[in-house]
Amino acid sequence: MRTTVQQVRDYKARGEKFAMLTAYDYSTAKIVDAAGIPIILVGDSLGTVVLGYESTIPVTMDDMIHHTKAVVRGSSKAMVVGDMPFMTYHITIEETLRNAARFIQEAGAQAVKLEGGITVADKVKKLVDCGMPVMGHIGLTPQSVNQLSGYKVQGRTPEAARRLLADARALEAAGAFAVVLETMPSELSAYITSRINIPTIGIGAGPGCDGQVQVISDLLGLFTDFVPKHAGRYARLAADIAEAVTTYASDVKSGVFPAAEQGFDMNEAVIEDLRR
Ligand code: KIV
Ligand code: NA
Repeated sequence: MRTTVQQVRDYKARGEKFAMLTAYDYSTAKIVDAAGIPIILVGDSLGTVVLGYESTIPVTMDDMIHHTKAVVRGSSKAMVVGDMPFMTYHITIEETLRNAARFIQEAGAQAVKLEGGITVADKVKKLVDCGMPVMGHIGLTPQSVNQLSGYKVQGRTPEAARRLLADARALEAAGAFAVVLETMPSELSAYITSRINIPTIGIGAGPGCDGQVQVISDLLGLFTDFVPKHAGRYARLAADIAEAVTTYASDVKSGVFPAAEQGFDMNEAVIEDLRR
């Protein structure tokens, strides 16, 4: 049985902090799931950390469905949340519902996430009415990078802070079961967390949120083009991989690899027959 929406709500009720992590493929999802992470986000950060785009804007529904399917296959206990790409939940309600349904029905995710507050609340309500759990995402919303003029800390002025609280409340009222708070002052995220009844999940938002989320490629030191200030550093995979592949290449050159134990024997009689 995978983590349920109710269980996520219960974390906040109990005051129990929880970790969410992204994953984009089968083998990573399997490790994250086995480690007991209750929520796996197939983030559209896929675009930057896996597909090599400069932002999340080029990511398509088909990209997301492809990777969400792999994460669902690799997990059995975590709730899998599919991240709706740029402009796939804005044009019409019908298009929004159809795209979200692909995550749930075609890819096997249990919930979807989308960026925005008051302006997407009507879409959130429709999705929830159709039985699709929705996670909100406010603060630094990377799909709006051009409108925000860069990846900057959000909510620093009184007006901006008030707007973010209103966004969080609108998402709660629309039926969202949780909300990601990205890159905002710790005091603001803690205040928002205390003013709404759905769990907040922070990234670059300080310790006062109900849960935390990280991009796994940042956490593992695998994606090094740009490392956000808020990234947890729990491994140095890029360096480990570089060392492994360099050693492999030099072992091939020197004849150390492959060794006997990596080979397969042939029956002596067969090889003799071949030589005749
Ligand atoms: O795409 C993503 O990985 C995200 C998280 C950073 C919340 O949206
Ligand atoms: Na995202």
